[in-house]
Amino acid sequence: MSEFKISKRLCTAASYVRDGAVVADIGTDHAYLPIYLTLNGKVKGAYASDINKGPIDRANENIKKYGLENKIITRVISGLDDIEKYSPTDIVICGMGGELIIKILENSPYIRQNHMRLILQPMTHVELVREYLQNGFYAIAENVVFEDEKIYQVLCLQYDGCFHCLTKVEQELGKINIENHTREFELLLNSTIAKNQKRLDGLRLGGQDTSEIENYIQELEKLR
Ligand SMILES: C[S@@+](CC[C@H](N)C(=O)[O-])C[C@H]1O[C@@H](n2cnc3c(N)ncnc32)[C@H](O)[C@@H]1O
Repeated sequence: MSEFKISKRLCTAASYVRDGAVVADIGTDHAYLPIYLTLNGKVKGAYASDINKGPIDRANENIKKYGLENKIITRVISGLDDIEKYSPTDIVICGMGGELIIKILENSPYIRQNHMRLILQPMTHVELVREYLQNGFYAIAENVVFEDEKIYQVLCLQYDGCFHCLTKVEQELGKINIENHTREFELLLNSTIAKNQKRLDGLRLGGQDTSEIENYIQELEKLR
């Protein structure tokens, strides 16, 4: 194991990258994830891209610092544009909003091939990401990470082309997370219930129909 340390959030994402994978880190910023995976000899190849030049300049500086210029390819490019040139087996997208992640995935037919692995850590709207990907992908693993007073969900999915129907609760919290019921999951569950309770209070104040959200809170409460 190298001495290069990354956050718990990125470390969880890195743990889902397969041994011997060709990894693509989209929206890489500092390139910590591909540097970590390359230094640890976990991947066969690494590609790091970002839509902005500033982050790629930063990524290149870090890559140079660890002497990995010949091992990690960097590009300034949007999302998964031109991704087929690099033939990644495992695609990582961390630290972006869920809606942006969906937009990036929607624009890429490349991701829809057997055994393609997606490792995602949406900052918002994780439920929309799971809802979108239930058509074609299934969850291999997932986890809840608590770091710097924030709760993150990290998802690992694989393509099989089938439809994997998820309930609304499963879309928001993750089927595997629900099964594993870790301490961090309990934090996520409590904060999700509190968020929905706040919405319910708002609807009540506005004199609106609250039956749907009340049922949803009941479904969440059952998981406690
Ligand atoms: C908050 S940083 C996350 C960095 C790193 N992935 C992490 O999780 O620590 C988000 C990065 O995504 C990049 N980005 C935003 N939209 C993008 C897009 N459409 N394609 C590629 N990169 C994008 C931004 O420039 C920024 O560097």
